[in-house]
This record gives sequence, C-alpha cells and structure tokens, in this order.
Amino acid sequence: MHDLRISVTDRCNFRCTYCMPREIFGRDYAFLPRTEILTFEEIARLARIFVGLGVRKIRVTGGEPLVRKDLPDLVRQLAGIPGVEDIALTTNGALLAAQAAALHDAGLRRVTVSLDSLDDAVFGAMNGVGFPVARVLAGIDAAQRYGLAPVKVNMVVKRGVNETSVLPLAEYARDHGLILRLIEFMDVGQSNGWRMQDVVPAAELVGIIDAAHPLEPLPPSYPGEVATRWRYRDGAGEIGVIASVSQPFCGACTRARLSAKGELYTCLFAAAGLDLRALLRGGATDDEIEGVIAGRWERRADRYSELRSAETRGLRHVEMFAIGG
Ligand code: GTP
Ligand code: 5AD
Ligand code: SF4
Repeated sequence: MHDLRISVTDRCNFRCTYCMPREIFGRDYAFLPRTEILTFEEIARLARIFVGLGVRKIRVTGGEPLVRKDLPDLVRQLAGIPGVEDIALTTNGALLAAQAAALHDAGLRRVTVSLDSLDDAVFGAMNGVGFPVARVLAGIDAAQRYGLAPVKVNMVVKRGVNETSVLPLAEYARDHGLILRLIEFMDVGQSNGWRMQDVVPAAELVGIIDAAHPLEPLPPSYPGEVATRWRYRDGAGEIGVIASVSQPFCGACTRARLSAKGELYTCLFAAAGLDLRALLRGGATDDEIEGVIAGRWERRADRYSELRSAETRGLRHVEMFAIGG
C-alpha cells in the first residue's frame, strides 16, 4: 500500500457525462448529508493510520474536492503527518484560481486538473453545465504561479465526442509546461452508459499526437504508475496515457481509496467498501483500526480491469465520484 486517495465529498459543481450525467444526477438527487461525511479530524486520523501501514503519497479527490468548505485546513493536517512525502489534489479546476494560494500555503505540492477540450462547445457539453474553458485555464495558470507544479491535465476521451480536441490540447500543454494525460473512457459506476465502441484506445491517442509531434516511450517514474509515459523527441515535455481498458494494470496496483463516508475501497471497480467510519465512531483504537485495514488489504483480490468480462459486466460498481477515481 503506497498511495491513499481520499474523497472529501461526493458533490460536484460539474455533471460530466462520463461520471455524473445530469439526467441521473439532477436537482433531486440525494447526495450524502453532512453527518455521513467524515470530518477533517476523522480523515486525518485515518490518514495517520494508513501512513503507519506504508502509505507515502496522498491524493485528495471528490466529487469535486474544492466544493468542500475550508479544504486547505485538511491539507494542512495531512501535510503535517510525518512520513507523507507527496500530497496532490485532483480537481475540475473551476474553483482553483480562487484557492491555489491557500492550498499551496497549507502544504499542497501538486494538482491534476481535468479538462476534456479547449473548445467551449465540446467542453461545455462534456462537463454538463456549460462551464467555460477559460476559467479552467485560469485555475491551471494560478496553480502554476503558486508552484503547484508540474500541473497534470486529465483528459477523458470519448469516440466521436472529443477526439478532435486531443491535438489542440496536447499543443496547449506542450506550450505551457503541462503534462497532458489521455484517459480511456472507463466503465466505472452504473450511470455513464459505457460502451466499448465509445473507447478510443490509448495506442490511437498516442498516434494522433505522434503524427504531429514525434514521441518516444519513457520508463515509469515509479513502480505501479497508472499512466504510461511518452516524451516529445524535440524535448518539449511529456504526456501520459491511462489505458485501463485496452491495457489493464491491476497487477501492480498499490492504491487504497477512502470514500467520503469513510469506506475503504481496494479497487475502483469494487461493489462495496469496508466501513471504517463505524469503527471510528464506535470507539475503536488506532491499533484496532490498523488491524482491520491491514487484514482487508492483505486479502484483497481485485483485478476487475483484467477480468472485465461477461461475468463482471453485470456486477454493481461504486460510482467514481464516491471514491474519486
Ligand atoms: P500521479 O501521482 O500524478 O502519478 O497521479 P495518478 O496517476 O494517481 O493520477 P490521477 O489521480 O490523476 O489518476 C489518473 C486517472 O487514472 C484517475 O482519475 C482514474 O481515471 C485512473 N485511475 C487511477 N487509478 C486507477 C485504477 O486503479 N484503476 C483504473 N482502472 N484506473 C485508475
Ligand atoms: N472514465 C475515465 N476517467 C474518468 N474520470 C471520471 N470518470 C471517468 C470515466 N468514466 C476521470 C476524470 C477526472 C478523474 C477524477 O477521473 O476526468 O480526471
Ligand atoms: Fe465532477 Fe470530476 Fe465527476 Fe466531472 S469527473 S462530474 S468534475 S467529479
């Protein structure tokens, strides 16, 4: 166990078609009430226990983590845990320009910003709320100015929707010192209507960029890295591709996930998590909680992406926004 991904809320100000499509997550959708969500103190206590079990890298996610009030206070608590080497945030960028300075001061090191196109019509349709590209770019810009770098940009690609946005976004990233990461549309959750024919395989995505700006492969920067890395031959930086459909990478997974309501998930595609909140609120000691987490981690046998087959297709999966990807 090396990475801990912490979801701080299940809410989001976007309605991305591949994550929280607006037809399903409308005005009357019941998100978690506040009492069901872990407090910052509860999150920090669990994080300390996870660090005791080997976690070195923490990523704060959601939902959209910046819609949770006072997020920098949590970042400060997490950054203060001895043994934590890296703290990053995955965000849609909408509220980043306003919060980048406070996040940096609290000890955040890096951000990954989701952006699926530079074209307002395409991006507005994919984010489901017509959110303009310029405001996400302003967030990215602020993150760079405050040293939350290198900034990575996550782009989910859907066939027939935003393939034509791949090259322009790659060129923008090259010119601005950003690391673009192309993500195959995944069959997470129950709601996004995933079909294999909507997936653009990573090899094709790399080909689109390579044809304009030749690429060469790079080795992983750490074992079990999710993205496969490529470098521009002309020295203008790198890109990553996340090929979880065409080239599943379950075998090397070292990621534990904590949902907003305090469940431990050992796989993005799991049907159910282990309720740590009940232990926290039921008076368990740190040692007891540590024992439960360690036991669950040792017994895990998830390799959904590798199995992805007729038998697993019918299973219920947790929604991505509940555990943050
Ligand atoms: P770095 O620390 O920058 O290397 O971050 P990371 O690779 O963990 O980055 P990020 O959180 O941005 O992950 C990128 C995306 O990869 C996620 O948003 C998911 O879409 C996908 N992803 C992450 N973990 C898994 C996993 O275990 N299985 C699958 N199938 N996809 C994953
Ligand atoms: N397939 C691939 N990536 C997804 N994300 C959310 N849903 C999906 C999906 N169905 C990505 C977002 C964001 C990160 C948290 O997960 O783009 O970058
Ligand atoms: Fe919100 Fe991120 Fe899901 Fe989009 S992908 S709806 S920004 S949580």
